[in-house]
Amino acid sequence: EEASPPQPSLLNMSSAEAGRFFCTAGRGMEPFLARELHTRLGAAEVDSVSGKVFFSTAAGLGELSKLRSGERLFLLVKKHRALQVARNKGKMLHEIKSLVVGEPKYWLDIISVWRKLHGHEGKKDDVSREENTLPVKRKSEEETNTASKRQKMEQAVSEECQVEAAERCVSPERMNHQECSTESEISSELLSKGSGENPTANHHLSFTFRVSCRCSGAIAKILTPQEIGRAIGVALVKQFGWRVDLRNPDLEIFVHLNDIHSVVGIPLFRLPLANRDYIRTAGLRSTVAWAMASLAEISAGALVLDPMCGLGTILLEAAKEWPEAFYWGADISDSQLEGADGNIRAAGLVDKIELLQASVKALPLPSESFDSIISDIPFGKKFKVTNDTQLLPGILQEMERLLRVGGTLILLLSQDLHQLMDNLTKKSAGNDSSEPKKTLNNGNSSSLANGGGESFRFLVPDGVFGVSLGKTDAFIHKFRKISPPAGNW
Ligand SMILES: C[S@@+](CC[C@H](N)C(=O)[O-])C[C@H]1O[C@@H](n2cnc3c(N)ncnc32)[C@H](O)[C@@H]1O
Repeated sequence: EEASPPQPSLLNMSSAEAGRFFCTAGRGMEPFLARELHTRLGAAEVDSVSGKVFFSTAAGLGELSKLRSGERLFLLVKKHRALQVARNKGKMLHEIKSLVVGEPKYWLDIISVWRKLHGHEGKKDDVSREENTLPVKRKSEEETNTASKRQKMEQAVSEECQVEAAERCVSPERMNHQECSTESEISSELLSKGSGENPTANHHLSFTFRVSCRCSGAIAKILTPQEIGRAIGVALVKQFGWRVDLRNPDLEIFVHLNDIHSVVGIPLFRLPLANRDYIRTAGLRSTVAWAMASLAEISAGALVLDPMCGLGTILLEAAKEWPEAFYWGADISDSQLEGADGNIRAAGLVDKIELLQASVKALPLPSESFDSIISDIPFGKKFKVTNDTQLLPGILQEMERLLRVGGTLILLLSQDLHQLMDNLTKKSAGNDSSEPKKTLNNGNSSSLANGGGESFRFLVPDGVFGVSLGKTDAFIHKFRKISPPAGNW
C-alpha cells in the first residue's frame, strides 16, 4: 500500500462500497482506535501507524461520528511512501504537486464520495457536528484551583496540538484561518487564478477549498508548510478551477508529509471527534477517558465507581457508551463535584450518575459493591511523589475492598506513579516468576506480576497501556480482583 499502487476508482464500487478513511489518534491510542473501528464499524483493512489509523468502511457520517477513541477523521485521498528528499526546492515542489494533484480523475471521484457522504448526492446521512456541538468551555484558573496540575495542562492543550506533539511536527498545521497570515497573503493570487483555467472542471467552479499542510522530518528542512501549501493550492486551482477560500471553504485539503509517508485527506467534520458535544466543561482527555472505560468490561446492570471523579469525564464517557450500567462518582473537592454535577446535568445523565463527597482513603460505601472502578489518580503539588509512596497502596487497598471478586480496576497513572506501581508490585510479588501480562501496544508493559504483598494481594495486573496526555505521558493499568484463598478474607 505504501508503494504507490494505482488508485482504484471509488465510483466504480458497488452500493455497499467501502470508502477509505483515516483517523488521527493520540500517541498510544492507535490500538484502542483500531479495536473500536473493528467492533463499532466492522471496518476492514485496518492499518495503524504512529498517530494514524487507516481503514475501509461503508459506514455513513452518522456512524463515523460515533467514534470515541480518535481525534480527527479524514476521507483518504492519497497515501504514498515518503518522498525522496532532494536539495533542489523547485524539484521537490514539483514532485509534491504531482503526488497530490496527479490523476485528476481520481480527485473528482473522491470529491463525489465526499459529497455523497455529506448528503449532497444520494441519501442524507450527515450529522452536522458543528451544529450539534456545544462549545467546550474551559474552566478559569480560579475555578480549577483544586484540580491537579496535570488536569490544568490537559485543558490548556488542544486535542489537535496534542496529536501534533505526538508526531513531533516541526511546523504546525494551520487549521485556524486567523493564524494563516502566509496563506492569506497568497489568497488573492490564488483567487484571481481561480477562474477555471482548466476546462475539465467547469462543473466544479462553485467549489471552494483551502490547503492545510504539516511536514516533519527531512522534508521540513527543505520546505515550509506554507511553501508546500501554496504550491499545492496553485496546482489545484490550475487543474480544477476550484476557488480558494481561507475563511470558510467548502472543503479542506490536509497534506501530511513526513519521513514515513505522504498522506492527503479531506477532514469529514470541522471539529475533532474528540470534542464531545455532551461535555460542557472538559477534564481528562475524552479519548483517554473512553479508552479507560472500554477496558473495564462494563456490562448491563453493572455498578461502576470513579472515586476521584473530578469533573466526571470518565463517568460521562462510560455512561454515554454503556448506558445500561449505573455510575457513582466521588471526590474530595466541592468545586470539582459542582463541575461534575453541571456536566452530568448538561449531558442528561442525572438518572445514571450519583455523586458523593468523600476521600478515596475512606469511602462510605459497602465492601465488594462495585463491578468496576475506574480512576485518574492525581499527581503534582497536592500529591507529591514522596507522599504518593504511602498514598498509592492505601488507594489500592480501598479499591480492593470495594471491588467484587472478578471485577476490574482501571487506573490512569503518571509516569512517576507508574514507576512506583511497578516497584510496589515487584516488591509485593517477591521472586514470583509470573510473566508480564500482554498489552495492547508493544513496549509499554511494566514487569507487573501477581500481587503477593500486604496492601492489595487480590488485585492481579491485567495489562498496561502507555498513552499521551499531550505534554505528558501516562499509563493505564488494568487489574482484576481474584478470590482470596479460603479462610483468608
Ligand atoms: C486528576 S483529577 C481527576 C480528573 C477527572 N478525571 C476529570 O476528568 O475531571 C483528580 C481528582 O482527585 C481529587 N482528589 C484529590 N485527593 C483526593 C482524595 N483524597 N479523595 C478523593 N478525591 C481526591 C481531586 O479533587 C481531583 O478532582
